[in-house]
Order: sequence, then C-alpha cells, then structure tokens
Amino acid sequence: MIRKCLFPAAGYGTRFLPATKAMPKEMLPVVNKPLIQYGVEEARDAGLTQIAIVTGRGKRALEDHFDISYELEHQIKGTDKERFLDETRELIDQCSFAYTRQVEMKGLGHAILTGQPLIGDEPFAVVLADDLCLNPGGDPVLLQMVNLYKQFRCSIVAIQEVPREETSRYGVIAGEMIRDDIYRVNTMVEKPKPEDAPSNLAIIGRYILTPDIFELIAQTEPGKGGEIQITDALMKQAQRGCVLAYKFKGRRFDCGSAEGYVEATNYCFENFYN
Ligand code: G1P
Repeated sequence: MIRKCLFPAAGYGTRFLPATKAMPKEMLPVVNKPLIQYGVEEARDAGLTQIAIVTGRGKRALEDHFDISYELEHQIKGTDKERFLDETRELIDQCSFAYTRQVEMKGLGHAILTGQPLIGDEPFAVVLADDLCLNPGGDPVLLQMVNLYKQFRCSIVAIQEVPREETSRYGVIAGEMIRDDIYRVNTMVEKPKPEDAPSNLAIIGRYILTPDIFELIAQTEPGKGGEIQITDALMKQAQRGCVLAYKFKGRRFDCGSAEGYVEATNYCFENFYN
C-alpha cells in the first residue's frame, strides 16, 4: 500500500519573479486555488493522505495554508464566503502534513533524499506541483499510477510525448513497450538536446518510487546542471531491476512556465470556477 506523497517545494521559482520574491511559487493561484493544493487534492484522491513537504527558506506560507486561520475564519463565519474555504478545510481534516527543510538546493534528487526521514522504508509518490495534471471525468493521474503500482510493484514515472525540440526541458526515457501505454525503461537522460534524446517521451512531475531509491540517490554524483538528478538515480534502478514509464490519461499544464500557467488558469476558470 502507498500512503505517502512527497512534494519537493524548496525551489526559488525564478521564472515567476517578482511574484515569487516573498511568496513560494507553489502558492501561485490557478484562478483561486494555489498550485500546491491541486497537487495535495490529487494525492488525497489517490488515497495518499500522509503528505510530506520538502520546503526551504521563505516557504512558511505553505504550512500556514494547510492549517486553520482563526482570525479569518472567525470573521467570515456564518457568511456566504465560508464556502470558499470548504475544500481546504476538508483537505486538512483528511490529510496529515509533515515538513522538512532543504537547506541547500542541490537538485530534485537531493530534494527527494531530504524527504527520506518523512517517508521511511516504504513506497511513496512524488508530485511536482508546478506540473498541474487534470483528468476531469476520469481517474486522477496519481490514482492511475497507484493502481498500476499495485499490479507491478516497481517505480513508475509519468510520461507524455513532447515535440522533439523540447526534449531539453525534460527527463527523457526510452524502453520496451509492454502495453500500449506502458514502457519498461532501459534508458533515461536528463534534459538531452533533441539530437541526443533517446525518444520524445518526456517525464512529467509524477513518480511512484520504491524506497531503495534513497540509497541510489545517495550514490548519485551531480549530473546535468551540477545537480543531483532523480533521473540518474532512476536510471540505476532501471538497470538493477525495473522502472516503468506510464503514458497517463489526462492533461498536463506546465505551470512552471508563464504560457502553461496562463493556459491552466483559463482552463480551470472555464471548467471549475463557480
Ligand atoms: C524535473 C525533472 C525532469 C522532469 C521535469 C518534469 O525538471 O528533473 O526530469 O522531466 O521535472 O516537470 P525541472 O522542471 O524541475 O527542471
């Protein structure tokens, strides 16, 4: 059983400066809900109610968000504005939240390793909140992956086809197709140039990881950009045992870019806001 979901949330969000100067990028709202809340709701909907967040300096708003705000809640009690907090309150009741700080930013692999004390020795999910994944009317992406894990019991990365010229923005996999939407990974490269990319199957920010990944990350040398990459640790896991790549059903918005963020905002306004 998977119970825990890890959110690496220590990054600076430089692409959204000045908005992210004094505010965590995970708190950027898509319409009226912060990105991190979409992610936590997705985890909850997949049955993962133990939320582990790797934060850093300047990220306290994340902890305050998943807590009671006495003064505000007292002020709006009994008014029609109360309903705006219903979803958040429900989430706080249903989930537990644990935090740890990443003191130095040494890459996504390092952030995940920093979360080890919150996870322990069990399989867990990882959500990168700036990849907003939505599948209205169907199973949320993380639930699709949890169900797949029950069948295969190994690490799984979410993938999507991207235009060749964009491979340098992603981890890219290649492997043997074992079902029309599942590959057994045999190659994985972090942010390759289009001419070096093994395919156009890009990793999206949803992972299921078995706990042996921690030891593999600890042995991983800094890679692309001088950072410890989860992609490199997963490549070792794929060589040693099995890693699957899953072409999920649903839409993904890259909310780490202004264009994807605006697209997500329009989509959510049209489909969910009332
Ligand atoms: C990270 C991963 C990359 C993955 C991407 C998905 O990169 O390192 O492999 O494809 O997330 O969003 P980042 O976007 O944090 O640079």
